[in-house]
Amino acid sequence: MKRPIIAPSILSADFSDLTKTFKLLNESEAEWIHLDIMDGNFVPNISFGMPIIKSLRKLTDKVFDAHLMIEQPERYIHNFKLIGVDVLTVHYETQIHLNRTVELIKKIGMKAGVALNPHTPVNLLKDIINELDLVLIMSVNPGFSGQKFIENTYNKIVEAKSLIARSGSKALIQVDGGVTEQNAPKIVDSGADVLVAASYIFHHDNPLQAIRNLKKTQ
Ligand code: DX5
Ligand code: ZN
Repeated sequence: MKRPIIAPSILSADFSDLTKTFKLLNESEAEWIHLDIMDGNFVPNISFGMPIIKSLRKLTDKVFDAHLMIEQPERYIHNFKLIGVDVLTVHYETQIHLNRTVELIKKIGMKAGVALNPHTPVNLLKDIINELDLVLIMSVNPGFSGQKFIENTYNKIVEAKSLIARSGSKALIQVDGGVTEQNAPKIVDSGADVLVAASYIFHHDNPLQAIRNLKKTQ
């Protein structure tokens, strides 16, 4: 079975010692680092923003994968590029002019992702799938780490995989929320390319081993 890209979300890390967290991530098999940005409007929680990301950029060369859970994310696209974000994902539910937003993200040199809430159907991406670098399928309701994986996600991953295959799109499928070593094999088997995990990794006795467990999948 193919080995997924692992994108640890630092949302469950110890924010009083992020230098230590990044030292660990640099030693790990994780290729990406997932940054969950929340504004207290689109989701009922507030996380962290640009100054923190800018500082963290000095601590690693790994891919910065920013998941924007904010209203009107298009207002900040240039800012995220300036502070070193590589993959920028906006939520489908926040967009009126999704095509324009995706075009801008790519034009200024980032990869463009679109995230779907658990209730948002995959087929809504039909007319933009060829423009996307990433489809983020939320497997929990966004806003918090430590929630339970929603089982219907497997169907959505299969649908996304089929949409991508039919259209010839090169988009990767990312799954975010409630990912553990128990469900990772089935998630990858369904078609996921990138696994995000926060609590499974950072609440594990051995986060490096937790990352290896997710990579192994079978
Ligand atoms: C949830 C975030 C996730 C979250 C995942 O809104 O988008 O990235 O950090 O946390 P776990 O892996 O604990 O479900
Ligand atoms: Zn996320």
